Amino acid sequence: MTTHRIALIPGDGIGQEVTPAACQVLDAVGKRHGIEFRYDKFDWSCRRYAETGAMMPADGLDRIRGHDAIFLGAVGDPAVPDHVSLWGLLIPIRRGFRQYVNLRPVKVFEGVQSPVRGAESLDLVVVRENVEGEYGEIGGRLNRGFPEEMAVQESVFTRAGTTRIAEYAFALAATRRNHVTSATKSNGIVHTMPFWDEIVAETAGRHPDVEWRAEHIDALCAKVVLDPGRFDVIVGSNLFGDILSDLTAAVAGSIGIAPAANLNPERDFPSMFEPVHGSAPDIAGRGIANPLGAIWTAALLLDHLDHPDAARDLERAIAAVLAKTPVRTPDLGGTATTVEFTRALLEQLP
Ligand code: NAI
Ligand code: MG
Repeated sequence: MTTHRIALIPGDGIGQEVTPAACQVLDAVGKRHGIEFRYDKFDWSCRRYAETGAMMPADGLDRIRGHDAIFLGAVGDPAVPDHVSLWGLLIPIRRGFRQYVNLRPVKVFEGVQSPVRGAESLDLVVVRENVEGEYGEIGGRLNRGFPEEMAVQESVFTRAGTTRIAEYAFALAATRRNHVTSATKSNGIVHTMPFWDEIVAETAGRHPDVEWRAEHIDALCAKVVLDPGRFDVIVGSNLFGDILSDLTAAVAGSIGIAPAANLNPERDFPSMFEPVHGSAPDIAGRGIANPLGAIWTAALLLDHLDHPDAARDLERAIAAVLAKTPVRTPDLGGTATTVEFTRALLEQLP
């Protein structure tokens, strides 16, 4: 029996509804593979912010540093500015634990209707740079309230940071269909993006078996909609990867399905697993959130903790519940509750 300690942060809104589903599924898969999960639950959230003025305690990172992984539902509340929830919790964890890879697989499952024609063959992974790029702390605002008010925000691209994300993408493509698309904008952004292009090209030189091409982000967005089946691994900066992963998730049918992992590949720190979706205040509390994003995220966690067989079992159960049963939550056109859908999925586990 292997035991893993998981730091569980359900967060706000539907985060509270999809994390119990994911834990239930993890426990069931674990039981079949000799893995036990021990969850330490943390109330870090916008709710906590409203009560205490902080999303997490000052020593928050130290409290979860020793865990094998972090599982997060979602944070966000209409009453709390989004930059507070992001910079008060998610970004400190991603940066403090060097989780420089944001991995977002996207697939159109049999039995799920994509809003896009011809998307049935879509099966790709967005590899997003997760700790630098456009989401930088460098900048400021001047002359607030005056006509000459201004805001400056700097992007930061380092050789080390760009190289390691490109390396990750090429190595991943080598385990898939051997193709990398690099999202760029070196025609308009004349310093950082040519630098990105050069480093991606250097990295490609070390992976001669992987084909690759650079595409400008605007044209790439159009191609993701017009010809989604042709992509394998798409690597992008923090901003481009963020936008692309929501776009590809929507093309795949519902943001409620999409999983994400924030990885520290060196395993010096715990990695963090979270569905792509947010706290969905419009449906929170009604028990109808789609737990698939959180459940697929649990499969990514199993992979990262070196349980590929358990991860494949879970992925097969996800595919089976969608292909073989009509059970769907409302976002996929059904009437099932979160609990009912989770039960149907558990029945498909081998
Ligand atoms: P959202 O992802 O919460 O919701 C967008 C739309 O998709 C809504 O109509 C929602 O009902 C639907 N949806 C999302 N997940 C679903 C699921 N599992 N099942 C069924 N329907 C689902 O994005 P939104 O509305 O832009 O943000 C809401 C809050 O969440 C904001 O405060 C935002 O900052 C936060 N947020 C947090 C994230 C995180 O914790 N990583 C990521 C994205 C947003
Ligand atoms: Mg996003």
